[in-house]
Amino acid sequence: MSRGSWMAPLALLAALVSGSLAADLAGRYVSLGKCPDITNKADFDAVPYLGRWYEQERYDSDFQIGMDCVNAIYSDMGNGYVEVHNTARTSEGDFAEAIGEAHVVEPGVLLVQFGGYPAEYHVLATDYENYSSVYNCFEEGEYRWQYAWLLTRAQFPSADLLATARQAFADNGIDLDSFHVTYQGDDCPYLP
Ligand SMILES: *[C@@H]1O[C@H](CO)[C@@H](O)[C@H](O)[C@H]1NC(C)=O
Repeated sequence: MSRGSWMAPLALLAALVSGSLAADLAGRYVSLGKCPDITNKADFDAVPYLGRWYEQERYDSDFQIGMDCVNAIYSDMGNGYVEVHNTARTSEGDFAEAIGEAHVVEPGVLLVQFGGYPAEYHVLATDYENYSSVYNCFEEGEYRWQYAWLLTRAQFPSADLLATARQAFADNGIDLDSFHVTYQGDDCPYLP
C-alpha cells in the first residue's frame, strides 16, 4: 500500500451521500444523524504521547477495512510536528503502512495529514502511559462519518483498562455498539 492511500477515500465520501451505498453503510461508521457534542482533552501534551500505540478497537472505516495488527508510532519531527507511522496487516496477509504528519491545532485536537488529505484527530482522553480514546466525526448533509480508535500502550491490555478507555467514548455520547475489535498477536508484522 502506498503512502497516503489510507486517507484518499475521504475525498470520495461526499459522492456516497445520495447513493445506495450510504444506506448500506448506515449503522456502521456512516449513519444518519448529527455528530455528538464532544469534549477534547484540554491539557493534551503531545510529548508524553509519542511512541508506540496498539489499536484495540475502532469503527471499521473505509480506509481500514479488513486490517488487523494496527500499530501507530508517533515520533517528534521537531518544529512542532509529529510523524505518524501506521502499520497493519491486510486481509490478504500483507504488510501495509502509511506515513503522515500531525500537529496540534487546538487543545486536544491534532490535524493529521496523509498525502495531503487532512483529518482531525480528537483526543477525548488519555493518561499517556496506558490508553488513548481518539475520535473524529464530520457531517455531510443528513449523514455523519464517525472515526474512533481505542489505543493502548500494551499489546494485550487488561479488561479494566479497556473499560476505562471505552468509558471516555460513552461519556461523549459515542455509540460503542459498532466498534470493531482489532486483532493483535505475536504473529503481527510490527515494526521493531
Ligand atoms: C497505567 O496503568 C498502571 C497499571 O494499572 C498504573 O499503575 C499507572 O498509574 C497508570 N498510569 C497512569 C498515568 O495513570
